[in-house]
Amino acid sequence: MGFGCRQIHRETAYSMIAPTINVDGLICPAKEASIPVLDRGFLYGDSVYEVFRTYRGVPLFLDDHFERLENSARLIQMQISQSREELLFEIKRTAKIAGVSHDEDAYVRYQITRGDGQVDLYPDPNLKTRYVIIVNTLPSHNAVFYDRGMYMMIPKVRRNPANALDPNIKGGNYLNNIMGLTEARQSGADDCVMLSRDGFVTEAANSNVWFVIRGRLVTPGAGNLKGLTKKHIHKALEEAGVDSVEEDIHVNELLDATECFVTSATREVMPCASLTLLNGERLDFPEGGGEVTRAVRQVFSEYIQRYIEENTSDSLL
Ligand SMILES: Cc1ncc(COP(=O)(O)O)c(C=O)c1O
Repeated sequence: MGFGCRQIHRETAYSMIAPTINVDGLICPAKEASIPVLDRGFLYGDSVYEVFRTYRGVPLFLDDHFERLENSARLIQMQISQSREELLFEIKRTAKIAGVSHDEDAYVRYQITRGDGQVDLYPDPNLKTRYVIIVNTLPSHNAVFYDRGMYMMIPKVRRNPANALDPNIKGGNYLNNIMGLTEARQSGADDCVMLSRDGFVTEAANSNVWFVIRGRLVTPGAGNLKGLTKKHIHKALEEAGVDSVEEDIHVNELLDATECFVTSATREVMPCASLTLLNGERLDFPEGGGEVTRAVRQVFSEYIQRYIEENTSDSLL
C-alpha cells in the first residue's frame, strides 16, 4: 500500500487535477498504472464499475453508486473482497493525491475486477477481487452537444436482452454498446439509441434516453441500466410537480416524439437534435433542447445544488 510511483503531474495549466490511478492501494500517475495481464477484467471483461462526479468535493449520489456496484456484482455472482469503507477510504486518498478540491469538480471511476488466476473461464470463488480507482478532470463533452444537441441514430445492432447479459450489470464488457456507438459514428451520428430485439427503445451507448411523446415525458423502464441520473431526475421532477413516466416505448411511437434528451452522471441532461430511424428517416428536435428538456435541465440543476448542500458530510476532501 502506498504512494509507490513517480510524482503526480498536472496535465494542463488550467486544471489542478492530475489523472491519477489507484490499483489495489498503489497510487500512480494514470500513464504509469498497470494491472497483471492475467486479471480477469482484462481477459474477459469480468468486472463491475461505477462512475460519479463531484461538486465542490462532494460525490453526487454516493450511496446509490455503492448500492448499484453491489447489485452489479450480485448479478454476476462476484463477491467483492473489499468493504465499502475500504473502497471509500482509497477513493479519498486517490482524490487528495490527484488534487481534487472545492474549486474543481472531478470524475471518479472505480472498478472491481474478479482478480487474477488461471486462464479459465470459470471464476474460482476464492479469487480476491482487485480494485482500480481512476480520478481525473471531468470529460469535456463537446459544447455543441449542449448548444445544438446530439445527432442520434438507431443502429442495426440490438441491445442485449436482460436474460442474456442484463443491462443492469454495469460491467467491464461494453462490446454491445461499443458496436452500437461505432455503427452510429460511422454513419455520421454522435450517439446511438439502441432497440431491444422486439423493437422497443432501450438506451443510448452510455446514457439513458428520454422523449416527449404526445406531450408526455417518457423514458423506457426496461432493457436498460437503471441510471442514477434518471432516478434522481424523476425525483426532482416529482418535487417540482412535473410528471415523468417509465414505460415501454416502441420504435413506431417515436414518430410522435417532439423532444429527446439523454442523461448520465457526466452528461447530466444533454439534448438531442435529431434521431435517424432504421429506414433512414430523420426526426428533428428543437436545437439546444425544447421547452421540456430545458425545464428538466433547470429543475435537475437546482436539485443537485440542494443535494450537495445536504450531503457535505460525504465530501472526499
Ligand atoms: C449503458 C448505460 N446506460 C445508462 C447510463 C447512465 O447511468 P448514470 O445516470 O447512473 O450515469 C450509463 C452510464 O454510464 C450507461 O453506461
